[in-house]
Amino acid sequence: MPKFRTLDDLGDVRGKVALVRVDLNLPMQDGAVTDDTRVRASAPTILELADAGAKVLLLAHFGRPKGARDPNQSLSRVIDCVQHVLGREVMYVSELAGDVVRQTIAILPPGGIALLENTRFWPGEEKNDPALVQTIAANADFYVNDAFSAAHRAHATTEGLAHVLPAYAGRAMQAELEALERALGNPRKPVAAVVGGAKVSTKLDVLEHLVGKVDHLIIGGGMANTFLAARGIAVGKSLCEHDLAATCEEILAAAEKSGCTVHLPYDVVVAKEFAPNPPSMRTCNVHEVAPDEMILDVGPQAVEALADVLKTCRTLVWNGPLGAFETAPFDAATVALATTAAALTREGSLVSVAGGGDTVAALNQAGVADEFTYVSTAGGAFLEWMEGKQLPGVKALET
Ligand code: 3PG
Repeated sequence: MPKFRTLDDLGDVRGKVALVRVDLNLPMQDGAVTDDTRVRASAPTILELADAGAKVLLLAHFGRPKGARDPNQSLSRVIDCVQHVLGREVMYVSELAGDVVRQTIAILPPGGIALLENTRFWPGEEKNDPALVQTIAANADFYVNDAFSAAHRAHATTEGLAHVLPAYAGRAMQAELEALERALGNPRKPVAAVVGGAKVSTKLDVLEHLVGKVDHLIIGGGMANTFLAARGIAVGKSLCEHDLAATCEEILAAAEKSGCTVHLPYDVVVAKEFAPNPPSMRTCNVHEVAPDEMILDVGPQAVEALADVLKTCRTLVWNGPLGAFETAPFDAATVALATTAAALTREGSLVSVAGGGDTVAALNQAGVADEFTYVSTAGGAFLEWMEGKQLPGVKALET
């Protein structure tokens, strides 16, 4: 694993100014934050630095304001949530650099915390403009990146700052990198990957990367229909990208060449309409899907076989649900396999790492998110990591 400096490598930080990049791109509804997971993830880093006497300046983006101020995307909207989670007062600062920030630092006591304004209000953020990097850095003694979920962006505050200030991985970043290393960097074998979700087209790079890395690739969700169709199976009205048949064949051929077993469902749950508990719902063999039916979940026999596969594995990486999990009972396969993975993790026979927005929601629905070895809240960054890409924000932290 590449080497990173962590908070353990910091000397005495009392009175020193820390720029701490966190991810406060939080979901909101009617003016209130609906999920504070990302704040909770970075709280240990922020509190550790504050308790050691640093003056902590939080850097974060919110939405995609495209280089201009937009009151709807001001970080002042999330400050109550941040204060609540931290249990500390946090000063909101409407600037990112310059005199106002200098004055803030002057009045902030050691251990004080301030939240600077949405970094994306400044065009130089997304351009990783060296001039902006320098003006932000001018106020600080060191930089901590605790935002893995934004590390796929080579922006001023996710990448640029790491080159001009002593740079450290925060506790959440450190935990994420250690978990990902255990999952695909240097995993205990055999390794299984579950890749689900609606479309093959959004996860092509993931599939291509994984077939060369894992022993078992379990494909679910709408993606499985595309693979089944490529194999000549009639999938009725199912969500399916028929134009990707050749690509699916290439992926299957690459898997065979590298000794990766691809698991597609052989029984499925189908219905004529997509609604909760539709009367037309039935379970059938994949060869028996009628033209007016759609596949909405992996069937129970296939799930049992997949559970047996997981029992032989030592590492699991999971991204994407196996069925249309938001609508009951099409969450059954996802819940059943996730429950097996959680039990194997509890017994100590499996290291299980999952990530991505839908996946976290599905694991929460199954009530097992806490039992996985590690669940990443990152969306795009987790996917890019599964594609085998090097994340610029992570690379910049390497020593
Ligand atoms: C996220 O919410 O996944 C991260 O904060 C990155 O946001 P972005 O996709 O707008 O760069």
